[in-house]
Amino acid sequence: MALSVNWVQSILKTRPSDNLTISPLSIADFNLPVYDEPVMPALVPAVKQFTHEHSKKWSAAIASFAGYIFVIPEYNYGLAGGTKNAVDYLKNEWPGKPVAIISYGVHGGNKANEQLAQSLEAVMQMKVVPTKVLLPFAAGPDLMTAVNEGKVGEATLEEWEGKGKREEVLKAVKEIGEVLELQAKVDDVLEKTK
Ligand SMILES: Cc1cc2nc3c(=O)[nH]c(=O)nc-3n(C[C@H](O)[C@H](O)[C@H](O)COP(=O)(O)O)c2cc1C
Repeated sequence: MALSVNWVQSILKTRPSDNLTISPLSIADFNLPVYDEPVMPALVPAVKQFTHEHSKKWSAAIASFAGYIFVIPEYNYGLAGGTKNAVDYLKNEWPGKPVAIISYGVHGGNKANEQLAQSLEAVMQMKVVPTKVLLPFAAGPDLMTAVNEGKVGEATLEEWEGKGKREEVLKAVKEIGEVLELQAKVDDVLEKTK
C-alpha cells in the first residue's frame, strides 16, 4: 500500500468532529482472485449465493459500511486492475451509498478517478460526492521514490499541503456526511408516514 494512503488516514484522524466512524479497509487483504464466482454479483443474494470464502468475506465487509472513501492509484492511464476487480465482485452491496474518490500517482490519477466514478455512479448507483481529490507526486527525486518504493517525499507533502489537498480531503468527507444525514432525514419522514 502506498504511503499516500497513510497521509489521507492521518488527515481523517484529525478531522473536525462529525458523526462518522471511519475504518480502514485494504482491498489487498482480501486476496481476491480474478472474479471466479459461477454467479453474477447482481443475482446475490436474491437468487443465488456466493460460493467462495473470499467473496463472502469481501461482500460482508463492504455491506457493513454506509459509505466509502476510495484511495486509489492509477496505472497506465486507467483504474488499477485490482481495484476494478474488487468493485466488480459486488453489485447489491453498493447502491445508494455515498462515496468519495481520492486518487494518487504521477499525474494524480485523474483518469482512474473518473473511471471509478463512472462505474460506481452509472452501474452501482452510488452517490459520488462532488469533490474529486487528485494527489500528484512532486516532480524530481520524489517521483521515483513514490513510484518505486511507495514513499511520499517531503516535496510532495509540501505541494499537497500548499495546494489545499488537505482541505479537499476534508471537504469530500464532509460531503459524505451530508449525504448520510439527508438519507437519515428521508428515512425518518418515510417511517413517520407509514
Ligand atoms: C505500471 C505502472 C503504471 C503507472 N501508470 C500511472 C499513470 O498512468 N498515471 C499516474 O498518475 N501514475 C501512474 N503510475 C504511478 C503509480 O500510480 C504509483 O506508482 C503509485 O504509487 C502506485 O501505488 P500502489 O503502490 O498503491 O499500487 C504507474 C505506476 C506503475 C507501476
